[in-house]
Amino acid sequence: MIRGFLTLGDVPVEKWPALLDRAAYLKKHRVQTTLAGKAVALVFEKASTRTRVSFEVGVFELGGHAVVLTSQGSQIARGEPIEDTARVLSGYCHAIVLRTFGQERVAQLAQHASVPVINGLSDQHHPCQVATDLFTVREKFGRIDGLRYAWIGDGNNMAASWIEAAGMFGLDLALACPEGFAPDPELVNAARELQRQHGRGSLTLTTDPKEAAAGANVISTDVWASMGQEDDAARRKVAFAGYCVDTALVKLGAPDAIVLHCLPAHRGEEITGEVLDGPRSLAWVQAENRLHVGKAILEHVMSAAQ
Ligand code: CP
Ligand code: NVA
Repeated sequence: MIRGFLTLGDVPVEKWPALLDRAAYLKKHRVQTTLAGKAVALVFEKASTRTRVSFEVGVFELGGHAVVLTSQGSQIARGEPIEDTARVLSGYCHAIVLRTFGQERVAQLAQHASVPVINGLSDQHHPCQVATDLFTVREKFGRIDGLRYAWIGDGNNMAASWIEAAGMFGLDLALACPEGFAPDPELVNAARELQRQHGRGSLTLTTDPKEAAAGANVISTDVWASMGQEDDAARRKVAFAGYCVDTALVKLGAPDAIVLHCLPAHRGEEITGEVLDGPRSLAWVQAENRLHVGKAILEHVMSAAQ
């Protein structure tokens, strides 16, 4: 099995500076030939705008060819096992990006594929997005360490990848989640253990958005109901009232605080239009950066597989 990029931890900490440098280079020099003659399958079992378009355009700009499959438009929705899909796609393509539900599906695909697999979002992780967020922070502040990070909202896939990042890179991360929506405690413990080993970083869990936002340089949020949780949206609206990133909350952050949102956003729920469309928001740069970071991730896993 070639593992690929299933969570952030699949790229060792010491390789991240070069990967992010490469993304910065690719932002300046978009058209390359590193994937010439190579095909990448982009498999979507959930909706996507950014992940789909950034990887499809990214493969094109690197000289390769992207094949987009949706579950409905393929045999996946008719029950073809993910293991068989892995074997078959490995015969045609040099890498597979999968967006799906349980992380175990990404793991099964990777286990049975003979080409690298990239997690384009699962219920548990969104590593391509948080890699992009770290790139966006580095672009803005010149570094990712020595900053305070706040997560406001659901303890979801995005929160999980932020927690993993906080463990790997020794970041100071405070998460404010409503009761019953806290992140996976195992993940939190693992990240704290890594921080203890490095001797830096902290992970604070609170139910108070103001406490998490106080002094933060980077304030991130996400939708209250993720894909697959639509039926629970009404209950979540009640539980998450008070977890809106608005101007008052951002004012509690550092004077140079930036606001990140992976998008799509629901203005008036997890973030106000004033903040999302305002001067502190880097959401649109962040969205564009998915292209550059996605290309660097593709190059990384595909060259590692050779
Ligand atoms: N941020 C993100 O993953 O967006 P899409 O769902 O549009 O791919
Ligand atoms: N947490 C969201 C992220 C979307 C990019 C979801 O899983 O739907």
